[in-house]
Amino acid sequence: MKLSPSLLAADFADLYREAMSVAPLASSLHWDVMDGHFVPNLTFGPPVVNALRKKLDLPFVIHLMIDHPVEYTPQFDVRPMDTIIVHVESTDGADRALDAVQAAQAHAGISFRPATPIDRLEPYFDRVSTVLVMSVEPGFGGQSFLPDSLTRIRELTRRIGERPIEIAVDGGIQVGNVRDVVRAGADVIIAGSAVFGAKDRLAAMRQLLEAAR
Ligand code: DX5
Ligand code: ZN
Repeated sequence: MKLSPSLLAADFADLYREAMSVAPLASSLHWDVMDGHFVPNLTFGPPVVNALRKKLDLPFVIHLMIDHPVEYTPQFDVRPMDTIIVHVESTDGADRALDAVQAAQAHAGISFRPATPIDRLEPYFDRVSTVLVMSVEPGFGGQSFLPDSLTRIRELTRRIGERPIEIAVDGGIQVGNVRDVVRAGADVIIAGSAVFGAKDRLAAMRQLLEAAR
Protein backbone atom coordinates (compact mmCIF):
# COMPACT_ATOMS: atom_id res chain seq x y z
CA MET A 1 0.00 0.00 0.00
CA LYS A 2 1.12 3.53 -0.80
CA LEU A 3 0.55 6.48 1.47
CA SER A 4 -0.17 9.95 0.11
CA PRO A 5 -0.57 12.67 2.74
CA SER A 6 -3.17 15.37 2.05
CA LEU A 7 -1.77 18.83 2.76
CA LEU A 8 -5.32 20.05 3.43
CA ALA A 9 -4.69 19.23 7.09
CA ALA A 10 -1.21 20.80 7.17
CA ASP A 11 -0.23 24.20 8.53
CA PHE A 12 -0.89 26.45 5.51
CA ALA A 13 1.61 28.99 6.86
CA ASP A 14 4.33 26.41 6.43
CA LEU A 15 3.38 24.19 3.47
CA TYR A 16 6.92 23.60 2.23
CA ARG A 17 8.21 22.38 5.58
CA GLU A 18 5.04 20.37 6.16
CA ALA A 19 5.53 18.62 2.82
CA MET A 20 9.21 17.96 3.59
CA SER A 21 8.29 16.48 6.96
CA VAL A 22 6.30 13.66 5.35
CA ALA A 23 8.50 13.11 2.29
CA PRO A 24 10.49 10.08 3.59
CA LEU A 25 7.38 7.86 3.75
CA ALA A 26 5.11 9.48 1.16
CA SER A 27 4.58 7.99 -2.30
CA SER A 28 3.19 11.33 -3.46
CA LEU A 29 1.74 14.55 -2.06
CA HIS A 30 -2.02 15.12 -2.32
CA TRP A 31 -3.21 18.68 -3.01
CA ASP A 32 -6.91 19.43 -2.54
CA VAL A 33 -7.84 22.28 -4.84
CA MET A 34 -11.29 23.67 -3.93
CA ASP A 35 -13.10 26.67 -5.39
CA GLY A 36 -16.07 27.38 -3.12
CA HIS A 37 -18.45 26.30 -5.93
CA PHE A 38 -17.96 22.63 -6.69
CA VAL A 39 -17.52 22.18 -2.93
CA PRO A 40 -18.37 24.65 -0.15
CA ASN A 41 -14.75 25.37 0.79
CA LEU A 42 -11.84 27.34 -0.67
CA THR A 43 -8.24 26.23 -0.44
CA PHE A 44 -5.46 27.04 -2.90
CA GLY A 45 -4.96 27.03 -6.65
CA PRO A 46 -2.25 27.05 -9.32
CA PRO A 47 -0.07 29.88 -7.89
CA VAL A 48 0.40 28.11 -4.56
CA VAL A 49 0.73 24.57 -5.96
CA ASN A 50 3.18 25.72 -8.65
CA ALA A 51 5.38 27.54 -6.14
CA LEU A 52 5.66 24.33 -4.10
CA ARG A 53 6.08 22.17 -7.20
CA LYS A 54 9.35 24.01 -7.96
CA LYS A 55 10.79 23.18 -4.56
CA LEU A 56 9.70 19.57 -4.00
CA ASP A 57 10.72 16.38 -5.78
CA LEU A 58 7.91 13.97 -4.90
CA PRO A 59 5.11 13.31 -7.39
CA PHE A 60 2.16 15.67 -6.94
CA VAL A 61 -1.42 14.46 -7.09
CA ILE A 62 -3.71 17.41 -7.71
CA HIS A 63 -7.31 16.68 -6.74
CA LEU A 64 -9.50 19.19 -8.54
CA MET A 65 -12.74 19.91 -6.70
CA ILE A 66 -13.62 22.89 -8.86
CA ASP A 67 -15.99 24.04 -11.56
CA HIS A 68 -14.34 24.65 -14.95
CA PRO A 69 -11.42 22.20 -14.69
CA VAL A 70 -10.80 22.71 -18.42
CA GLU A 71 -9.94 26.35 -17.80
CA TYR A 72 -7.69 25.76 -14.80
CA THR A 73 -5.87 22.53 -15.61
CA PRO A 74 -3.39 24.21 -18.01
CA GLN A 75 -2.42 26.62 -15.25
CA PHE A 76 -0.73 23.90 -13.20
CA ASP A 77 2.99 23.48 -14.02
CA VAL A 78 2.95 19.71 -13.73
CA ARG A 79 5.79 17.26 -14.33
CA PRO A 80 5.23 13.99 -16.20
CA MET A 81 5.27 12.07 -12.90
CA ASP A 82 2.32 14.10 -11.56
CA THR A 83 -1.37 13.18 -11.60
CA ILE A 84 -4.37 15.43 -12.00
CA ILE A 85 -7.64 14.02 -10.71
CA VAL A 86 -10.90 15.37 -12.07
CA HIS A 87 -14.42 14.60 -10.89
CA VAL A 88 -16.88 12.69 -13.03
CA GLU A 89 -19.54 15.19 -11.87
CA SER A 90 -17.48 18.07 -13.30
CA THR A 91 -19.39 20.94 -14.96
CA ASP A 92 -17.22 20.62 -18.08
CA GLY A 93 -17.96 16.91 -18.50
CA ALA A 94 -15.38 14.28 -17.62
CA ASP A 95 -14.28 13.76 -21.23
CA ARG A 96 -13.27 17.37 -21.76
CA ALA A 97 -11.68 17.53 -18.31
CA LEU A 98 -9.60 14.41 -19.09
CA ASP A 99 -8.62 15.89 -22.46
CA ALA A 100 -7.21 18.89 -20.57
CA VAL A 101 -5.21 16.63 -18.26
CA GLN A 102 -3.86 14.71 -21.24
CA ALA A 103 -2.85 17.96 -22.93
CA ALA A 104 -1.00 18.95 -19.74
CA GLN A 105 0.97 15.67 -20.05
CA ALA A 106 0.13 14.53 -16.55
CA HIS A 107 -1.26 11.16 -15.49
CA ALA A 108 -5.04 11.27 -15.33
CA GLY A 109 -7.28 10.25 -12.48
CA ILE A 110 -11.01 10.33 -11.99
CA SER A 111 -12.95 10.69 -8.76
CA PHE A 112 -16.59 10.48 -7.74
CA ARG A 113 -18.72 11.64 -4.85
CA PRO A 114 -20.05 9.04 -2.39
CA ALA A 115 -23.54 9.18 -3.93
CA THR A 116 -22.40 8.85 -7.55
CA PRO A 117 -22.90 5.36 -9.03
CA ILE A 118 -19.80 3.46 -10.16
CA ASP A 119 -21.47 2.98 -13.56
CA ARG A 120 -20.65 6.58 -14.38
CA LEU A 121 -16.89 5.89 -14.12
CA GLU A 122 -16.73 2.90 -16.41
CA PRO A 123 -16.55 4.86 -19.68
CA TYR A 124 -13.28 6.39 -18.43
CA PHE A 125 -11.42 3.28 -17.29
CA ASP A 126 -9.33 3.30 -20.44
CA ARG A 127 -8.30 6.92 -19.97
CA VAL A 128 -7.08 6.97 -16.35
CA SER A 129 -4.31 5.50 -14.23
CA THR A 130 -6.08 6.27 -10.94
CA VAL A 131 -9.62 6.05 -9.66
CA LEU A 132 -10.05 8.05 -6.46
CA VAL A 133 -12.86 6.84 -4.22
CA MET A 134 -14.23 9.60 -2.00
CA SER A 135 -14.97 8.01 1.35
CA VAL A 136 -16.38 11.30 2.71
CA GLU A 137 -18.38 14.04 0.99
CA PRO A 138 -15.66 16.16 -0.67
CA GLY A 139 -15.00 19.60 0.82
CA PHE A 140 -13.45 19.21 4.23
CA GLY A 141 -10.80 17.23 6.05
CA GLY A 142 -11.37 15.55 9.38
CA GLN A 143 -14.73 13.92 8.54
CA SER A 144 -15.73 10.37 9.46
CA PHE A 145 -15.20 7.56 6.96
CA LEU A 146 -18.50 6.55 5.33
CA PRO A 147 -18.75 2.80 6.04
CA ASP A 148 -20.44 1.87 2.74
CA SER A 149 -17.26 3.09 1.00
CA LEU A 150 -15.86 -0.41 1.60
CA THR A 151 -18.59 -1.89 -0.60
CA ARG A 152 -17.84 0.71 -3.28
CA ILE A 153 -14.10 -0.07 -3.17
CA ARG A 154 -14.79 -3.80 -3.51
CA GLU A 155 -17.20 -3.29 -6.39
CA LEU A 156 -14.74 -0.96 -8.12
CA THR A 157 -11.92 -3.48 -7.67
CA ARG A 158 -14.09 -6.11 -9.34
CA ARG A 159 -15.04 -3.88 -12.27
CA ILE A 160 -11.49 -2.65 -12.88
CA GLY A 161 -10.30 -6.24 -13.11
CA GLU A 162 -6.87 -6.55 -14.71
CA ARG A 163 -6.70 -2.99 -16.01
CA PRO A 164 -3.58 -1.05 -14.90
CA ILE A 165 -5.51 1.34 -12.66
CA GLU A 166 -4.64 2.23 -9.07
CA ILE A 167 -7.47 2.58 -6.59
CA ALA A 168 -6.91 5.48 -4.22
CA VAL A 169 -9.18 6.16 -1.26
CA ASP A 170 -9.65 9.63 0.19
CA GLY A 171 -11.33 10.75 3.40
CA GLY A 172 -11.61 9.70 7.01
CA ILE A 173 -8.82 7.13 6.97
CA GLN A 174 -7.24 6.44 10.35
CA VAL A 175 -5.24 3.68 12.06
CA GLY A 176 -8.53 2.00 13.04
CA ASN A 177 -9.90 1.51 9.51
CA VAL A 178 -6.91 1.52 7.15
CA ARG A 179 -6.63 -2.26 7.14
CA ASP A 180 -10.26 -2.70 6.01
CA VAL A 181 -9.73 -0.12 3.27
CA VAL A 182 -6.63 -1.89 1.95
CA ARG A 183 -8.29 -5.30 2.17
CA ALA A 184 -11.22 -3.97 0.15
CA GLY A 185 -8.78 -3.19 -2.66
CA ALA A 186 -7.16 0.22 -2.08
CA ASP A 187 -3.66 0.64 -3.51
CA VAL A 188 -3.15 4.20 -2.29
CA ILE A 189 -4.35 5.72 0.96
CA ILE A 190 -4.85 9.47 1.22
CA ALA A 191 -4.57 10.70 4.79
CA GLY A 192 -4.91 14.29 5.96
CA SER A 193 -5.75 14.67 9.63
CA ALA A 194 -4.35 11.23 10.55
CA VAL A 195 -0.91 12.49 9.46
CA PHE A 196 -0.87 16.24 10.03
CA GLY A 197 -2.98 16.07 13.16
CA ALA A 198 -0.16 14.15 14.83
CA LYS A 199 2.80 15.89 16.36
CA ASP A 200 5.22 13.37 14.89
CA ARG A 201 4.10 13.00 11.27
CA LEU A 202 6.48 10.18 10.37
CA ALA A 203 5.46 8.18 13.43
CA ALA A 204 1.81 8.61 12.43
CA MET A 205 2.61 7.45 8.89
CA ARG A 206 4.51 4.45 10.21
CA GLN A 207 1.49 3.52 12.34
CA LEU A 208 -0.81 3.71 9.31
CA LEU A 209 1.56 1.58 7.24
CA GLU A 210 1.88 -0.99 10.03
CA ALA A 211 -1.87 -1.07 10.70
CA ALA A 212 -2.53 -1.77 7.03
CA ARG A 213 -0.50 -4.98 7.00
C1 DX5 B 1 -11.71 16.05 1.13
C2 DX5 B 1 -10.33 15.87 0.57
C3 DX5 B 1 -9.46 14.90 1.30
C4 DX5 B 1 -9.19 15.28 2.73
C5 DX5 B 1 -8.82 14.07 3.53
O1 DX5 B 1 -12.49 16.78 0.23
O2 DX5 B 1 -10.41 15.44 -0.78
O3 DX5 B 1 -8.23 14.74 0.60
O4 DX5 B 1 -8.15 16.19 2.84
O5 DX5 B 1 -8.63 14.49 4.85
P1 DX5 B 1 -8.86 13.50 6.09
O6 DX5 B 1 -7.83 12.43 5.96
O7 DX5 B 1 -8.66 14.39 7.26
O8 DX5 B 1 -10.27 12.99 5.96
ZN1 ZN C 1 -8.51 14.87 -1.83
